[in-house]
Amino acid sequence: MSVPTTMKAVVVEQTGGPEVLQFKTSYPVPTPKAGQLLVRNNISGVNYIDTYFRTGLYPSPKPEILGREGAGVVAALGPETSGFQVGDRVAWLSTGGYAEYTAVPAAHTAKIPEGISDEDVMASFLSGMTVLAFAKETYPVQKGDWVLLHAAAGGAGFLMTQILKTMGAKVIGTAGGAEKCALVKSLGADLVIDYRSEEGKDWVKQVKEATGGRGVDVVYDSVGKDTWEGSLEAVKRKGTVIWFGNASGPVPPLPLAKLSPKCVKVARPTLFGYIQTPEEFKSYTTELFGLLKSGQLKTKIHNIYPLEDIAQVHKDLEGRKTMGKSLLRP
Ligand SMILES: NC(=O)c1ccc[n+]([C@@H]2O[C@H](COP(=O)([O-])OP(=O)(O)OC[C@H]3O[C@@H](n4cnc5c(N)ncnc54)[C@H](OP(=O)(O)O)[C@@H]3O)[C@@H](O)[C@H]2O)c1
Repeated sequence: MSVPTTMKAVVVEQTGGPEVLQFKTSYPVPTPKAGQLLVRNNISGVNYIDTYFRTGLYPSPKPEILGREGAGVVAALGPETSGFQVGDRVAWLSTGGYAEYTAVPAAHTAKIPEGISDEDVMASFLSGMTVLAFAKETYPVQKGDWVLLHAAAGGAGFLMTQILKTMGAKVIGTAGGAEKCALVKSLGADLVIDYRSEEGKDWVKQVKEATGGRGVDVVYDSVGKDTWEGSLEAVKRKGTVIWFGNASGPVPPLPLAKLSPKCVKVARPTLFGYIQTPEEFKSYTTELFGLLKSGQLKTKIHNIYPLEDIAQVHKDLEGRKTMGKSLLRP
């Protein structure tokens, strides 16, 4: 496969708002190092975490090409890289996805099985493995558990609602607006609360009522600043609260004494902590591909955009205008 020397890419030179996302048409194509592959991206995922690196909430060296995942074809192998061939169809987790080509570690790359589209994989790769890891390892969800899931119509939330129902949980999903709530309900959620509506403002009370005053066994909260206190109230005695994102801003430093009245357990996980070894990565990618292939896990693509529209994509994501996953076609 012939590889050009320059490519289209979106580069961030300094932290800031969506305006710092610079579309370039002749950025150097990276050279894969030992253990790396060069992938020609057919499609790349946009995740909320990209906005944290853009704003500097999560520090990272700049200039930087954002984008934690992509799917496409292996265009070249780095020295001492084995297990892949030029032309293999793959999905990867790393950094640099907002570009035509990305040099990625072979250790975090998986061959996409026949019968699954690149689009379905990108709508569920980072997000799908995240929700599988959090529902199986961070808190192993049991059949019959009451689970509160915030932002249930989002990229991760859409997948998590389905996974939780497959595991036999009773799911209370929150989402902003009637359309998002209808989507969550269609996935089988037992109760859906529009936490932006007048009636939904008191969502803690509604969660308590639905659970007979007891509270939920576990809360999955990726909204953070606006919901963290309510999540602590809505969890049952001896329950678990999992904070895994900052869509509204980070959870402030938490006085541990706040946990003692109800003996609450808290966790602050990240996907990358669960897929560090090749065995872990393989186990989660295999499970995810199996769910996609069998049709047990459906994906929802909000839209597929050209790279040059990336600033609008970030504005829409941060403006709560998306349902499911936003993708880029580099
Ligand atoms: N820890 C990890 O490893 C990990 C991995 C993947 C994702 N995450 C986290 O999971 C969350 C979801 O990620 P995603 O990429 O799938 O994004 P997303 O859910 O598609 O988008 C974020 C959603 O958060 C909700 N939200 C609530 N308050 C908000 C506010 N003030 N501003 C913006 N959005 C707000 C919105 O839904 P409503 O309109 O319905 O409120 C919005 O659509 C993020 O917090 C992300 O950081 C963490």
